[in-house]
Amino acid sequence: MRIYVTKDYGEMSRRAANIISAQIILKPDCILGLATGSTPIGIYDQLVEWYEKGDLDFSDVVTVNLDEYKGLGAESEQSYIHYMREHLFDRVNLKSENTHMPDGRIADSGEACRAYNGLLASLGAPDLQLLGLGRNGHIGFNEPGSVFEKDVHCVDLTPSTLAANQRFFEAEGSPMPTQAYTMGIRSILRARKILVAVSGADKADAVQKVFFGPVTPDVPGSILQLHDDVTLVTDEAAYSKAERP
Ligand code: GLP
Repeated sequence: MRIYVTKDYGEMSRRAANIISAQIILKPDCILGLATGSTPIGIYDQLVEWYEKGDLDFSDVVTVNLDEYKGLGAESEQSYIHYMREHLFDRVNLKSENTHMPDGRIADSGEACRAYNGLLASLGAPDLQLLGLGRNGHIGFNEPGSVFEKDVHCVDLTPSTLAANQRFFEAEGSPMPTQAYTMGIRSILRARKILVAVSGADKADAVQKVFFGPVTPDVPGSILQLHDDVTLVTDEAAYSKAERP
C-alpha cells in the first residue's frame, strides 16, 4: 500500500486528482470507478479545472459508480446521479452513455442489482476505483457486518450512516431513504487499482481501523489490506491516529 499524507483537504484533493489524471493520460479509454460523499468534491473540482485548461480529455473514459439510494432518481437533489452530474459529469466531456450507476428508480431490488451486476461484468474490471470511507469504516454502502463475498446488492443503511447523511435530506425537506444499492466488497476488490481519499479528524478512527486494524467484516474497508494495489491519500487530521497497534 502506498500512503500519501497531505497537509489539508486541498492538498489531499490535488494529490488524488493527480493520480486519477495520470490514469486517464496513460489509458484514455480507462474505466474509472467513482464515489460520492463530501470527500471527493475537491477531487472532481480539480479534475474539472485541468479539463478546462485542456490538460485532460474524458471523451473515451467510462465510469461506474459505487452506489445509489434505493428510490431516488436524478430529479432528487440527494440522489447520487444528481451529485455526479453536478460535480463531474456535466462539467467535462464525458459521454453520458459512458457513465453508469445503479438505477435507484427500479423498485425491485433483485432486478436493479442484476442489471448493474450484468453491466459491470460486461465492462470488465475498473482500472482505478476511487473510494471514500464512512466513519464506521464502510466503503460504498457496505456497512459493518457485510459479507465480503457480495457483488451488487441492496443494503439497509445503519443508524450511523443515516445520521451522517440525514442533514442533506432535512435541508431538502424529504425523507431519507433507508436502503441503497451498492457494489459489494467483491465487486470493489475487482478493480485493478484502488485509491482511497480521506480527510478530517472525524475519519481518524476509521483510517486507523481500516488500514492498521484486523481484517474483519466489522470494519468493511479493512479488506482493502488484502488488495495488492491500494493507494491511500489522506490529510494529516485523518491520519492522526494511524499507528500500528
Ligand atoms: C456515503 C457513501 C460512501 C462515502 C461515505 C463518506 O456513505 N456511500 O461512498 O465514502 O458516505 O462520505 P463523506 O465523504 O461525505 O464523509
